This record gives sequence, C-alpha cells and structure tokens, in this order.
Amino acid sequence: MVYVTRREVFSASHRLYNDNLTAEENVTLYDKCSNPYGHGHNFILEVVVSGEIDRKSGYVIDLKILKKIIHENIIKKVDHRNLNHEVDFLTGIIPTAENICVAIWNELKNKIPMGKLYSVKICETENNYVEYKGE
Ligand code: NI
Repeated sequence: MVYVTRREVFSASHRLYNDNLTAEENVTLYDKCSNPYGHGHNFILEVVVSGEIDRKSGYVIDLKILKKIIHENIIKKVDHRNLNHEVDFLTGIIPTAENICVAIWNELKNKIPMGKLYSVKICETENNYVEYKGE
C-alpha cells in the first residue's frame, strides 16, 4: 500500500460558540476563541489517498486530479470565508478543527476516483493539528 498526500492552504475565520450554552459558559469553554467577531487562521489541509500503484501510470492517484477534487469540493468553499456562516458542509457545526476535519472527510470520501481516502488532517496552528481516518 502506498500513501499519497496533497497539501493545501486556506485562510478562513471562525468563532467557537455553542448556542446551547450561556455567553459565560462559552467563554469558560472556548476562552478567546469565542470572541464575538471571530478570528482567523491559515489552515493547512492534508489529504492522504492510499492504494496500489497503477501499472500503466505509475501513480496511486494523479495528484493533478486530487488537487482538482480538493479545490472544487473544499478550497473554493472555505478560502477567505467565515466557517460559521458561509460554508454549506459546515452548517450547524461548531467549526473546531475536529469538526472541520470530519466534515471535509465526509465531503471527499466518495469523490476519490483512484485508491481510497486514507486520512484528512487539519493544522490550525503550527502546534495544533487534528487527523481523521474515517472511524
Ligand atoms: Ni481558531
């Protein structure tokens, strides 16, 4: 099994806030991440596809194709957007790195034409990242 990674960067804003909690409880839970007007990150997205190497092409998946799939389905929708309000596949979801990661997995899992989706990783800062492998 061979693992192929495509890395993308997008800039977006978000606010961590749970509507079912009071303003005070949100501050306790999310601290400055719950500031009313939000804040931004340069998110790094890493998508890994696993599979056998195709004999004819020598590829697991053509990275040009993987790039296009990620752009069409994810980057176009999230780059320079507010993740609380502007992204169809994040509607009703608190946009933590965990939830963003799982939502991106769900968007991509049936759209990979060669190999299969192995993992999605979201790096929110240099020091914090989240990875999801589907289960
Ligand atoms: Ni944040």
